[in-house]
Amino acid sequence: MNKITIAIDGHSSCGKSTMAKDLAKEIGYVYIDTGAMYRAVTLFCLQNGLIKDEVINTEELKKRMNDISITFQLNPATGRPDTYLNGICVENKIRTLEVSGKVSYVAALDFVREAMVDLQRLMGEAKGVIMDGRDIGTVVFPNAELKIFVTASDEIRAQRRYDELIAKGEKCNMEEILTNIRERDRIDSTRAVSPLRKAEDAIVLDNSHMTIPEQKEWLLAQFQRVTAG
Ligand code: DC
Repeated sequence: MNKITIAIDGHSSCGKSTMAKDLAKEIGYVYIDTGAMYRAVTLFCLQNGLIKDEVINTEELKKRMNDISITFQLNPATGRPDTYLNGICVENKIRTLEVSGKVSYVAALDFVREAMVDLQRLMGEAKGVIMDGRDIGTVVFPNAELKIFVTASDEIRAQRRYDELIAKGEKCNMEEILTNIRERDRIDSTRAVSPLRKAEDAIVLDNSHMTIPEQKEWLLAQFQRVTAG
């Protein structure tokens, strides 16, 4: 059977990556977390003093884009890909609230998006890929055979994020997380370059009241429908 391209877009913290990773494992496709790529660029900025408060030194970042190498490597222990920045595994560092609080500003920069989109197209060139993000079905792969747009209520998304951070042993506060989620949605949906929006031909999934196994089953059924025949 010919392999297809699967684009999974949607709001932050709505479980896109869990669904996408699970499906990739099940059907033997490559999973690419494009949010991790914008997070890695943000970490690079923080590590190199290129962000002060909400202000990014865009001139300097533009000059240093070629110093940023982002790759993924399968972690045999988890069976999932880890993100590497310049050869160093940054999978945990890119998930902190510090990075979450700045990433939307970095992801709104046109030259950062251009570089990431080029890299994403290269990574997905051979098909057999599941990519999750905000603009995969609209900009990166507008011809993807299967497009899903995932959403869930703000409160449920904040609770999931809270549980995830607590499980990792991070200190966090529910109000702060809810504010961060709403602020990221606002910036992601209103930015000038590639704002978050549903592709016309995407199928909407509101998973507010679904369990992870139910979402997995739903997504697998969508894949089977598209690839049947
Ligand atoms: O999915 P995530 O929360 O890890 O994404 C981090 C940020 O990157 C979020 O603010 C949206 C942005 N992003 C984007 O603009 N385009 C993508 N394709 C993926 C993520």
